[in-house]
Parts: sequence; C-alpha cells; structure tokens
Amino acid sequence: MATGMAEYEASIAALKRRLFAQLLSSLPAGTAGEAGAAQPQPAQLLELGIGTGPNLPFYSAFYGLPGRQGASSSGGDGSNGSGSSTVSTGSSSSLSADDPPLQIVGVDPNPFMRQYLEDSRAAVGWPQARLSWVQGRAEALPLPDASCDAVVCTLVLCSVGDVARLLDEMARVLRPGGSLLFIEHTTARLQAQPVLWVGQRALEPLQRLLADNCHLTRDPLPAIEAHPAFRGGVEATRFSVDGVSLISPHVAGIARRQGQRPPAAEAEEQDWLGGGQAGSGATAA
Ligand SMILES: C[S@@+](CC[C@H](N)C(=O)[O-])C[C@H]1O[C@@H](n2cnc3c(N)ncnc32)[C@H](O)[C@@H]1O
Repeated sequence: MATGMAEYEASIAALKRRLFAQLLSSLPAGTAGEAGAAQPQPAQLLELGIGTGPNLPFYSAFYGLPGRQGASSSGGDGSNGSGSSTVSTGSSSSLSADDPPLQIVGVDPNPFMRQYLEDSRAAVGWPQARLSWVQGRAEALPLPDASCDAVVCTLVLCSVGDVARLLDEMARVLRPGGSLLFIEHTTARLQAQPVLWVGQRALEPLQRLLADNCHLTRDPLPAIEAHPAFRGGVEATRFSVDGVSLISPHVAGIARRQGQRPPAAEAEEQDWLGGGQAGSGATAA
C-alpha cells in the first residue's frame, strides 16, 4: 500500500509542483492582521482530508525549506520520516524572519492520521508552529466565513458523504479571490474506456467498504464548475495516471472564489486559530 502510494505520488509529482506553485505564488506574503497589529500575519491555507501529509513536500519545496524534498525531484511521496514531536495547536502567530508566510490547517476525521502527518512534517522541515490539525469533517468546517486564503483538497471528494455540502463549506470559508486547489480521481468514460467503466461500477461497493467510502464513479468537476462561488473561475485538466488502474482518470485544477467579501468576516478574520473557533463541533489538536 505504502509502495503503491509512493508510485502514485511520483507519477503526479510534476503536476503537483506546478499547481502548488501556482496556488502558493498567488497568496498574500503576509496579511495585515488585527487593526494596530505590528506584525504581518501568515496567509491561511486549509487542507481538507490532509491524511498523512503527502502534499507537505510541495509547501516545503516552494518556500525552499530544508528537509527531504521529494517535491523538488521526481519523487514527492510525502511518506513518513522519523519525527516524534506532536502536531502543533496551530497558533497563528505573526511572522518571524525564518518562517514561511503560510499557516496550514489540516482537517481530517481520522485521528490515526495525526502522528503520520507529524512524521511527514518533520521529514520535510515544515515548521511545527506553521501546521495545525483539527479533527473534523469537511462538510461542517469549524472555521469562520472568509477566513482562508486557499483551500487544498486532494483525493477527498471521492470519500465524502455529501459533495454539495462540502463545496458550500469550501465556498463559505474561502475569502473572495482565494483559490481552491483540487486533484481527484474520477470515472472512466464509457466510450473511451468501456472495460474500466464497467470495472469501476462493479467494484465500487467493495471499494467503498474497504477504502473509507471511496467512490470510483464520481466526477466532481461539473459540481465545482456549476457552484455559484466558483462559476467562471475554474481551470481544470483531465489526465490519466501511470501505474494505477481503478482510480484513473483524474481531474485537477484551481478554482477561484468569486464574489464579494462579507462584511461580517472582517471582524472574525485572524482570530480563528488563536481564538478557539476550531473547537466548535470538532476536536482541535
Ligand atoms: C484517500 S485519503 C487522501 C489523503 C490526502 N489528501 C492525499 O492526497 O493523499 C482521504 C482522506 O480524506 C479523509 N476524509 C474522509 N472523509 C472526510 C471528510 N468527510 N472530511 C474530511 N476528510 C475526510 C480521510 O480520513 C483521509 O485522510
């Protein structure tokens, strides 16, 4: 399984490097923070279903951090290193000269992912204070409106119970102008790949049972493109992934949050990690 995921990550590493570079270079280098605050605040990135942290190498590589940089070569598996410290509570402290200007908040319902995530963090040299972990579900995010500059969602839409609700939640927490990065496996086309199309439908019940409700026949792109918050702002590509059979083809891209910033969000901004919001309805680590 670990080997399979390493091969999978290697095969999409180039695409991830490009998409993460596009996303991260669009973020503010540090936002103003509370009125009167002397120090700029890091940009806020929410990663849904962060799992063991296979995307952490791409954040580290983008900001040039030391550590095992799978994302900077043909690798990028994000598999576990030997770190032993615990995942931060994610205080959104102001920037210091050495820290990347990015606070990552990982949300995942599975508490067993947490230590693997910490190991991945240590392996790629991402600062502990710049990663927090919240136990929760993406369909009910314990975060204020318009509190995130970016959302990342990779291989999660296949598993969630309610895709429409998840998209509403992403739209709610993203500030207007913020971006959603998505990479998802999707269904084969009947005309182009009839054997795979039949196989995905035949094996989906077993896959859901064995792989945490993972659907083989979903195509999330039409729902993303049709969502009022993202309509007209989606750049996506469809592609096959070498070395995987059932979870191919894929769809990936960046969707820009449209619309105006709700006035009420101004007051809540910057306080959502330090102010205890992450505890409502979920467990903040
Ligand atoms: C296939 S793994 C993908 C992990 C990682 N994002 C990646 O790209 O490899 C799916 C992850 O989504 C999490 N997950 C499942 N249902 C979820 C939900 N409703 N909300 C948020 N995360 C969920 C699982 O616990 C798991 O960590």
